[in-house]
Amino acid sequence: MTERPFNFSAGPAILPPAVFERTAAAIRSLDVPGDDSLESRLSILEISHRSKTYDAIHEEAIALCHEVLGVPKEHAVLFLQGGASTQFAMVPMNLRQADRPAAYIDTGVWSKKAIEESKALGATEVVASSKASGYDHIPAMPGPQSYAGASYLHITSNNTIYGTEWEDMPDTGDTPLVVDFSSNIGARPMAMDRVALGYAGAQKNLGPSGVTLVFIRKDLLERTPVGHVPTMLRYGIHAENNSLYNTPNTFGIMVLRNVLAWVKDEGGAVRMGERNRRKADEIYAVLDGSSLYRPHAKVGSRSTMNVTWTLQGDDAEAQTKRFLAKAEAAGLSGLKGHRSVGGCRASIYNAFPEAGVGVLCEFMREFERTA
Ligand SMILES: Cc1ncc(COP(=O)(O)O)c(C=O)c1O
Repeated sequence: MTERPFNFSAGPAILPPAVFERTAAAIRSLDVPGDDSLESRLSILEISHRSKTYDAIHEEAIALCHEVLGVPKEHAVLFLQGGASTQFAMVPMNLRQADRPAAYIDTGVWSKKAIEESKALGATEVVASSKASGYDHIPAMPGPQSYAGASYLHITSNNTIYGTEWEDMPDTGDTPLVVDFSSNIGARPMAMDRVALGYAGAQKNLGPSGVTLVFIRKDLLERTPVGHVPTMLRYGIHAENNSLYNTPNTFGIMVLRNVLAWVKDEGGAVRMGERNRRKADEIYAVLDGSSLYRPHAKVGSRSTMNVTWTLQGDDAEAQTKRFLAKAEAAGLSGLKGHRSVGGCRASIYNAFPEAGVGVLCEFMREFERTA
């Protein structure tokens, strides 16, 4: 086999080698120690979601969400399908209250999509935005008077495209805080007790695409939706049935379990946070010390998960193409920036090794020297 490239993809994204090993074994045969059922000698891909063998995996995945991600005990953990994009609609469908608008903070493409879904359903207020400066920072938290009467306040904790990230969860008092955690869930310890509902497509820090983690404070399950909500789009249904109302993505949930078990083995969110800080700082130091590269995100809002930059100069576009082609040739995969920002993006999620960041930084310095 040729040497493995360093995978900077924004998502689906890099997963730890130990997770590939454990997952590959479970595709052949689960072989659960202490489980003498026939299913335990079958593949994860072919056993019933109602079997005792799968149930143990499901319950362990939920327990690890509480333990490793810090999801409070007062929250129900759900494993849904349809990606974070389905949550853009499910949140307002389930949580909007009559005569109370939904409030959003606009930090780019993904929050905009969430806002559009909410607008289609009812009154929606954008209470802060960083649009005017190309979404290069997280706007200052608006005063409570701007969202106090809202059904909830929605934020995007990490903006995958621009490389901006909330430092921590804001305290929104009695207004339920809803957070799209898709691209930084588990990146470090965060004030999860401030979050009423969190959601994340799994395909960055949690596993493969096709599973969406949702956690919701149990009292919010009691909210009566304003309009009709189809059965599969009701949080209450999924909570009552422990995410087994219909057939869940059993394979994806098992991989998510494997990823969280790996995070725990590595020292949990605390260790992830320290490692992610070091990785991001190393790249930002190259960007800040360069006259060729310009970081997109402003200091104070810089993401530890997605580092974004453009190349400067008269032939910036051609230089960017050369940079990306040379990077590919050097085994650095997935550095092309999102089309709405251009330039480059290094996605360095939990599973991305520190050694790979060192290789990228050396490559960047060398490219600038010889450009
Ligand atoms: C912050 C954020 N929210 C939402 C999405 C959409 O996720 P999905 O593709 O799971 O619908 C993405 C995808 O990259 C994202 O980065």
